[in-house]
Amino acid sequence: MIRTVLVVAGLGLGLTAVMAQSNPIAERQQIMKAVGGATREGAAMAKGDVAFDAAKAQTVFKTYADAAAKMPALFPDSSKTGGETTAAPKIWEDQAGFKAAFVKFGQDAEAGAKAADLASFRTAFGAATKNCGTCHEVYRIKK
Ligand code: HEC
Repeated sequence: MIRTVLVVAGLGLGLTAVMAQSNPIAERQQIMKAVGGATREGAAMAKGDVAFDAAKAQTVFKTYADAAAKMPALFPDSSKTGGETTAAPKIWEDQAGFKAAFVKFGQDAEAGAKAADLASFRTAFGAATKNCGTCHEVYRIKK
C-alpha cells in the first residue's frame, strides 16, 4: 500500500512538472478536481456510507497537502483569464492572503494525516474542509 501511494505520488509530480510549463490554469483546475474527488471519498467515510479506512483517510489529506504545496505557484500574471478559469482578480490583489490561505489548508491537512480512527478523522476532515468555502468565497468568481 505504501509503495502504491509513493508510485502514484511520483507519477503525479512528473505530470505536474510537464503541465506547469504549458498551462497553469489547466493544472490548477486539475489539482482542484483531485481535491474535489478526495473530498467526496472523505465525506462518504465521515458520513459512514463507506467504512473508515486509515489508508484512504491518509490519501485524502495527502491530496490536500499536495494541492496546498503546488497551488500557490500556479497563478502567474499571464493566467488571470482564459481556460474558463474561475480564479478571482482578488488572488492577484491579495497574494499574501491567498498564499496564507493555502498555508492554513496545508497545516490542517498535515494535522489530519495523523487521524487513526473514525472519530478523529471526522474532526480533522471537518476542519480541513472548512478551508474550501473560506477560500472559494473570496478568491473564486461564481459562474
Ligand atoms: C486557498 C484557496 C483554496 C482552497 C483552500 C481550496 N480551493 Fe478549490 N479552488 C481554488 C481556486 C482559486 C479555484 C479556481 C481555479 C481556476 O479555475 O483557475 C478552485 C477551484 C476548485 C474546483 C473547480 C475545479 C475545476 O473543475 O475547474 C473544485 C472542485 C474545488 N476548487 C474544490 C475544492 C475543495 C473540495 C476544497 C477543500 C477540500 C478546495 N477546493 C479548497 C482555491 C482554493
